[in-house]
Amino acid sequence: MADYDVIIIGAGPGGYVCAIRCAQLGLRTACVEGRETLGGTCLNVGCIPSKALLHASDLFHQSQTEFEKMGILGGKPSVDLPKMLDYKQSTVESNTKGIEFLFKKNKIDWLKGWGRIEAPGKVNVNGETHNAKAIVIATGSEASTLPGVEVDEETIVTSTGALELKEVPKRLVVIGAGVIGLELGSVYSRLGSAVTVIEYLDTITPGLDAEVQKTFQRILKKQGLKFILNAAVQGAVKTDKGISVNYKSRKDDKEASLDADVVLVATGRRPYTQGLGLEELGVETERGMIKTNARWQTNIEGIYAIGDVIAGPMLAHKAEDEGMAVAETVAGQKGHVNYDVIPSVIYTAPEVAFVGRTEQQLKEDGREYKVGKFPFMGNARAKSYFLAEGFVKILADKETDRVLGAHIIGPYAGDLIHEVCVAMEFGAAAEDIARTCHAHPTFSEAVREAALACGDGAIHA
Ligand code: NAI
Repeated sequence: MADYDVIIIGAGPGGYVCAIRCAQLGLRTACVEGRETLGGTCLNVGCIPSKALLHASDLFHQSQTEFEKMGILGGKPSVDLPKMLDYKQSTVESNTKGIEFLFKKNKIDWLKGWGRIEAPGKVNVNGETHNAKAIVIATGSEASTLPGVEVDEETIVTSTGALELKEVPKRLVVIGAGVIGLELGSVYSRLGSAVTVIEYLDTITPGLDAEVQKTFQRILKKQGLKFILNAAVQGAVKTDKGISVNYKSRKDDKEASLDADVVLVATGRRPYTQGLGLEELGVETERGMIKTNARWQTNIEGIYAIGDVIAGPMLAHKAEDEGMAVAETVAGQKGHVNYDVIPSVIYTAPEVAFVGRTEQQLKEDGREYKVGKFPFMGNARAKSYFLAEGFVKILADKETDRVLGAHIIGPYAGDLIHEVCVAMEFGAAAEDIARTCHAHPTFSEAVREAALACGDGAIHA
C-alpha cells in the first residue's frame, strides 16, 4: 500500500502520457497496467504494429510495381510472413520498452495488475489498496462484436488477430470499411490476398469528406480491393470451404454469401471499463462511455476519465492531449484541449488525413465557405515518386478567409495535415499559408497551392 497524488488506470497513450505529465508537474504518480508491457492497445496491438506491417507491405508492393520503372532490377522480392511479423514485434518491443524507460526516468510507479476503484481515492491492485488524491481512468477500448460472428482470433479475427496471422490468406473478407478495415485490408491485399470489404453504409469511411471518399474508394479498387456497400453482415459460419459470410442487401433485402479463409471484423470499438467497479461507485455512463464534464471529471469528485472511455473520436492522440490536460487540471493548472483541431489519419497508400470541418458540415452549419483544391499531379516531387494520385482541399470562410478545415488524400498526407493544424490553432487565414515560403521540391507545396487556390489561384494547376 502506498499514497500517491495521482493513480492512473491504464498505460495506453492517454494513461502513460498523463502519468509522465503528472510526474513532470511534481505529482507523486502511479500507473496501473495489467498487460505484460506498457503502451496499451496502440503500442501493443494497434497503431504501432499495424504501421510496421503497412510500411513493410507498402515497400513490398512498390518493389513489385515501381522498382523496374526506376531501373532497379534483380528479380522480384517475395514475402516471409513470420519474418515480417518478427520485424513488427521488434518495433512493438522497442516502443513499449521506451515507455518503461520513461516511467523510470520520471519516477512513476508501475502497479502491475488490473485496477479496481474501491472508493474515491482508493484503487485496489492485486488485493492491495493504494491511496490517491485523484484517480484517472484511461482504460481504452476493445473491438465491438457482431451478432452471429464469433471471433476466435485465428480465422475470424479482430485487428488483434489480424496482426498475427500464420499465413497470408487467399481470401480475406473484411466487415466494415472504416479505418481498421481499410488499413489491414490494404496490408493483406499488398501481400497477395483477394480482399473483399463488406460495408453497411453506401460509402466507405463514414464521416470523411465526400470527394475524398470517392477518390479513396476508386484508388483502393484500382489496387485490387473489392467493395460490397449497403450490405449488413448477418453472420459467419465455418464450412468445409472456409468461412461463409452472410449478408443482406439494404436496398432490396436480398441475402447473399461470400466464402473466405479469414474474416476480419472491423465494425468499431467500444469503451473498456470492465472490472473497474464503476456501477458500485455510481459513476455515470452513457451508451457505455463514462460521462465527464469539461474538466474530464466524472460525477464522482476526484475521479477523472480520458481517451476512448469517454466521448469523442477514439484516437491515440486525442487521448494523449486529454492525458496532458487532465494532469495539468489535477495539478491546479488550466488544462485545455481544442477539440476543433484534432487531425485524423488513415495510413493507407495514399494516406488520407483531415482536420476541422467537412463541406457537408459547413453546409449544415449554414456557413459560407470557399474551396481551394490542388491535385498532386501538379506537384513535381509527387510525380517523380509515382505518388501523384489525390489532392489537397482547404476550406476557408468566404468572408474572412479563416481556415475551417483541410482534407488531403495523397503522399504523406498524415504529416502534411499538421501545417494546417498549426495554422488553425493560430486562427490563420488561407492567405497566411499561401504567403508562407515553402521549400521546393516538397510535397508540402501542394498545401500551399491549395491555400493559393482559396485566393487568386494556384500556380501549377
Ligand atoms: P469504424 O467506426 O472506423 O468503422 C466501422 C465500419 O463498420 C463502419 O463503416 C460501419 O458502418 C461498418 N459496419 C458496422 N456494422 C456492420 C455490419 N454489420 N456489416 C457491415 N458493415 C458494418 O471502426 P474501426 O475501423 O473498427 O475502427 C475502430 C476505431 O479505432 C475507430 O474509432 C478508429 O478511428 C480507431 N482507429 C484509428 C486508426 C487511425 O487513426 N489510423 C487506426 C485504427 C483504428
